[in-house]
Amino acid sequence: MRSIITGSGIGVPKNVVKNDALTRLMDTSDEWIRTRSGVEQRHYVDSGQGSSDLGVMAAQKALVAAGKTPQDIDAIVFATMTPDYYFPGNGPLMQARMGFPETIPTVDIRQQCSGFLYGLHMADSLIRSGKYARILLVGADVHTPLMPWRRGWEQTVSGEAHDVSPEDYEFNTRYRDRIVLFGDGAGAVVVEGGTDDGKGLIATKLFTNGSNIEALYMRSGSSQRPWITPEQVVSGDVIPDMQGREVFKQAVSKMPEAVRAVCEAAGVRVEDIDVLLIHQANLRIVEAVAKQLSLPPEKVPHNIERYGNTTAGTLPILFHECLENGTIKPGMLVCFTALGSGLHWGAALYRM
Ligand code: ACO
Repeated sequence: MRSIITGSGIGVPKNVVKNDALTRLMDTSDEWIRTRSGVEQRHYVDSGQGSSDLGVMAAQKALVAAGKTPQDIDAIVFATMTPDYYFPGNGPLMQARMGFPETIPTVDIRQQCSGFLYGLHMADSLIRSGKYARILLVGADVHTPLMPWRRGWEQTVSGEAHDVSPEDYEFNTRYRDRIVLFGDGAGAVVVEGGTDDGKGLIATKLFTNGSNIEALYMRSGSSQRPWITPEQVVSGDVIPDMQGREVFKQAVSKMPEAVRAVCEAAGVRVEDIDVLLIHQANLRIVEAVAKQLSLPPEKVPHNIERYGNTTAGTLPILFHECLENGTIKPGMLVCFTALGSGLHWGAALYRM
């Protein structure tokens, strides 16, 4: 029994925000953002649009591509670190909105930038256990609510000219290393059990090291009374903390290790990989990982320039686009790898 991806789709909000729009809000430049991260633009949701909405957009398309309806699906796995609500997660929201039967379980997972990878591993385990035959896996995140938009966000999204007070400009600039990197987006796949004729998910390797969560985390949470305070909102303690250089260092060492480990587990060589899909956090990270694995640029596609980092959305969006534009073809060996907050990281090997 093998797990096979039979359909994919993406959910990307309509608002395109180019680097120049951000330079009006904080001390940054298009040149800095492009050269340090590779990002040229990102998509932002409308006010009132959440990660569940993007997930639904992606899921609807994935179901159509797989030739399935909600009645055909046995379970939903929804990966997001930015659910619409603190609780419940996005799974039940998707169940109700898309008309999935009440008889199917919906599982909400987090795992941040590794959410899709962990979700793929879970979907595969559930399918190969014989418990479920068809799983809808969604990876979706909206970062705009986590960013320090006191004022000016609506105008940024709509492209209107507006004044930013010196205080807001200074406040935004404190978070410029994060604001410029992230975008909003979702991807979804239908995973089905099929006979083992060589196609499908071959192996996964997942890792966690929680000894240094301060490298990338959000302070507010249930260990506080209350979980979020007015003072935190003012001070900016509700904006993710990120030690950029540390995360960068971990990403360029752990992802190549994970790719080598999954290749070893599957008995293939790294050079046998036809397409390596790397979590889109920074173009320099993508290039460094490819270089360490001695894979040529044509085997390592990227789209960070158009979307920024959409966390759980990056891998399924990139996978879908590579299928659509013919980068990924039948018979190819595709490797997925990601690293993110937790730290969680890993890799998966898939034969098309
Ligand atoms: N515009 C202009 N200047 C900036 C900006 C900006 N947007 N951001 C930072 N700078 C400045 C810094 O203040 C610093 O100035 P200084 O030298 O005067 O102090 C200078 O640029 C260099 O800063 P560095 O932090 O050394 O820049 P670096 O080359 O490391 O790039 C970056 C920073 C882009 C954040 C990089 O470290 C990175 O991408 N790290 C990985 C982050 C990541 O992957 N996060 C994703 C995980 S997401 C998840 O799991 C949810």
